[in-house]
Amino acid sequence: MVRRFQQHRALWNDRLYDFRHSVDTAWEIPVSFLGLPEDAARDSSNYGVSREAPFHRAIASLPIQYADFTFIDVGAGMGKSVFMATDYPFRRVIGVELSRAMMEVAERNLQRYHSRARKCWNVELVLADAATYVFPAERSVYYFHDPFGAPATRRVAGSILKSMEECPRDNYIVAAHYESATVDRTWDEFPWLTLVADRADCQIYRTRSNSS
Ligand SMILES: C[S@@+](CC[C@H](N)C(=O)[O-])C[C@H]1O[C@@H](n2cnc3c(N)ncnc32)[C@H](O)[C@@H]1O
Repeated sequence: MVRRFQQHRALWNDRLYDFRHSVDTAWEIPVSFLGLPEDAARDSSNYGVSREAPFHRAIASLPIQYADFTFIDVGAGMGKSVFMATDYPFRRVIGVELSRAMMEVAERNLQRYHSRARKCWNVELVLADAATYVFPAERSVYYFHDPFGAPATRRVAGSILKSMEECPRDNYIVAAHYESATVDRTWDEFPWLTLVADRADCQIYRTRSNSS
């Protein structure tokens, strides 16, 4: 009963967010409707939108100068976390998304998005498979809201590590999972990451300075 009430309230808040910012993000879409290639679809989660309160709790807690960092939403969906990240003065904000259908909605949303809290205008949406995407060699906050399972996470971790070897720098990884029944802790596997926050709705890791 309490859980149902919380879900209704969250859905209402998501719709209110869309209304306030003239965007369209508050949907639950099964992976079979995302139009993903077969191998990616096997490992992908359904589309579900990030929530404002836990997102801001995580991003506001980062001990960083935002202007020194790029925010990258890996599996950006319809773009909500990209838009929420522009409330912070990040150097730039990037959304990487594999589904063309999701990307078209995200691009439309970006055209219409408005917010008085906006502090970053350098925004890029990239249609790409995160598993093969070459991450920019910039200090970054990588945000993952349950986009895929362990196999793709390991490949993406490999790309991040490679880009750090080429260009040593600090990074943060935010692994968010607001409503998942089981929490995927694949990021715990990597010895080059230090867990700096462990909450019910997300883990935050820092790349170790001696690995970079
Ligand atoms: C749970 S939704 C995340 C929504 C968004 N990040 C947000 O905060 O509102 C996961 C998204 O990851 C995308 N995705 C799944 N596999 C992917 C991959 N290999 N590369 C890029 N995006 C992927 C899906 O198409 C889906 O839109």
